[in-house]
Amino acid sequence: MTVLASISDLMVTYRRDGGEVAALRSISLDIVAGERLAIIGESGSGKSTLALAIAGLLPASSAVGGRIEWPGLGQPPLLGRDIGFVFQDPSASLDPVMTVGKQIAEVARTHLGLTWSQAYAKARTLLERVHLPDPDSALHAFPHQLSGGQKQRVAIAAAIAAGPKLLIADEATSALDTIVQAEIVALIRRLVAEDGMTLLFISHDIALAAELAERVAVFRHGQLVELGSTARIVAAPTQPYTRTLLDAHIGLDAVPLLIRAGLPA
Ligand SMILES: Nc1ncnc2c1ncn2[C@@H]1O[C@H](COP(=O)(O)OP(=O)(O)O)[C@@H](O)[C@H]1O
Ligand SMILES: [Mg+2]
Repeated sequence: MTVLASISDLMVTYRRDGGEVAALRSISLDIVAGERLAIIGESGSGKSTLALAIAGLLPASSAVGGRIEWPGLGQPPLLGRDIGFVFQDPSASLDPVMTVGKQIAEVARTHLGLTWSQAYAKARTLLERVHLPDPDSALHAFPHQLSGGQKQRVAIAAAIAAGPKLLIADEATSALDTIVQAEIVALIRRLVAEDGMTLLFISHDIALAAELAERVAVFRHGQLVELGSTARIVAAPTQPYTRTLLDAHIGLDAVPLLIRAGLPA
């Protein structure tokens, strides 16, 4: 087992309106190379702050304590090259005035040292891999010409264009309707398997996270309250808070989570 990233005593505080918000309180967590790890918790529990800290994207208004080390990388990670990041809103991560092909090609060109024509060929392959209909015309399309789900496919293609070791998806399906959400989850699962990536899947939805992840970390008020295998967390959570999150999703009419997660009941 190789640890890709080792997080110890991570503390993040934001300064806001003259006060301070403790967003993460002493988080210690290892991300194992090749695993699919879900971070779940309610809005405001610190999930995005963790993702931003790992990706080196925290705003200047934050104060950070503790350490993030990368034994599985051997060097400090570079966003785009070593870490691919997919945000909730693809419109926010895509440039509205740049073609889809150029946005993906630029990542490949910057981090893989490809020529533009090699990078465009790579972009076309990636558009095929994320199952965008008609990849040839999609190369020349602008983001506004695509549906929400298609934009998220493009954002995912750009995120994996340089072959990152770690893919972080922060509520990447939360803005999509249920059917498109399921398709994007399936897409992420396939790409992660095909490229041997490590996945950090961040969601407020424990049922969705359980479908994708092998391990689940439950966050509450900036603290890691429970960590374990998906099967164990779903079947026998040790924390009442995790129980509450599970109960919020399990009605009598709901498909049991273990079956939804493809695990033996
Ligand atoms: N840029 C910021 N400035 C000030 N406070 C922030 C900022 N980003 C997040 N916070 C606060 O930090 C806490 C954790 O937020 P966040 O990490 O976004 O949680 P989550 O992703 O789980 O919803 C919340 O109280 C939130 O209001
Ligand atoms: Mg968030």
